[in-house]
Amino acid sequence: MNFIDQLKEKQQLVASRLDQALPAAEVPPDRIHQAMRHSMNAGGKRLRPILVLSGHELFPSFHDPLPAAVAIECIHTYSLIHDDLPAMDDSELRRGQPACHKAFDEATAILAGDAFQPLAFEILARCYGHVPKVAVDLIEILARTAGSEKLVGGQMQDLLSEGDPPQEETLSYIHANKTAAMIEASLCLGFRLGRMGEDDGKLELIGQAGHFLGLAFQAVDDLLDVTRTSEELGKDAAHDRESGKVTWISLYGEEKARELALEQTEKARQILLQTGGDNAFLLELVSHMLERES
Ligand code: IPE
Ligand code: IPE
Ligand code: MG
Ligand code: MG
Ligand code: MG
Repeated sequence: MNFIDQLKEKQQLVASRLDQALPAAEVPPDRIHQAMRHSMNAGGKRLRPILVLSGHELFPSFHDPLPAAVAIECIHTYSLIHDDLPAMDDSELRRGQPACHKAFDEATAILAGDAFQPLAFEILARCYGHVPKVAVDLIEILARTAGSEKLVGGQMQDLLSEGDPPQEETLSYIHANKTAAMIEASLCLGFRLGRMGEDDGKLELIGQAGHFLGLAFQAVDDLLDVTRTSEELGKDAAHDRESGKVTWISLYGEEKARELALEQTEKARQILLQTGGDNAFLLELVSHMLERES
């Protein structure tokens, strides 16, 4: 099967497990479940779940990586719902649909985001509880990544730095934490579930690969913001400059940002070649993430 077909197959697998994991739209209070489903089902590339599957594929075990894939997409989707709120980026379009607070209202969007967080940990506890050491490790990885020194910290600094003159140190902090941490965690969750998952040295290397891949991912996100339309992206384009965000473009300009994205991707590739395992799909995914158009 070629890469694109494999990618689609994985996206479908993830979509069907996500559908099973979310409370049905009719479960009361139906408004909250409709809002959660609105944001989740609007689409999305499902890159983090697919990185979980790819991280597991390196040294596959009998553990099912799909619940971990679903858990990280719950955290990611919450972060997008809250990122779009008027108090944060004030964006109206997400995944080709009205942002959650536009389709519903602000309070519902806040609560939908809130509800996705415990759901992620409930899934990990329930689906891996029969192997307690694995469950605890996964919960620890995801909780740390979502917390105030990673995802939330990165989002906080992103907002605090709006309008400031761009500085390399601030940019590195923001991107490492608001974005790269979740990409890193995705690979680590999958790898931890695999046969070699308890090898601390290898887990650290996989984390480093995820870190570089995540930096490249945010660089591409910043580039797309200035080169594509909202229609092409399915989210508000040209948003970063308007709100004075510190981005790879504001700091380095387009050309250098592109070079750096390539450089970080190459660093990730080299580490993945070093860690070995069945990395054929993952290496193609790494290139695909650099070349993506939305
Ligand atoms: C958007 O992530 C937020 C960033 C961290 C840049 P994605 O580009 O993965 O968004 P979806 O999940 O495909 O909608
Ligand atoms: C947000 O970064 C990263 C998150 C943690 C959600 P952006 O604000 O650049 O993401 P987009 O461009 O709105 O998707
Ligand atoms: Mg933001
Ligand atoms: Mg945003
Ligand atoms: Mg962006």
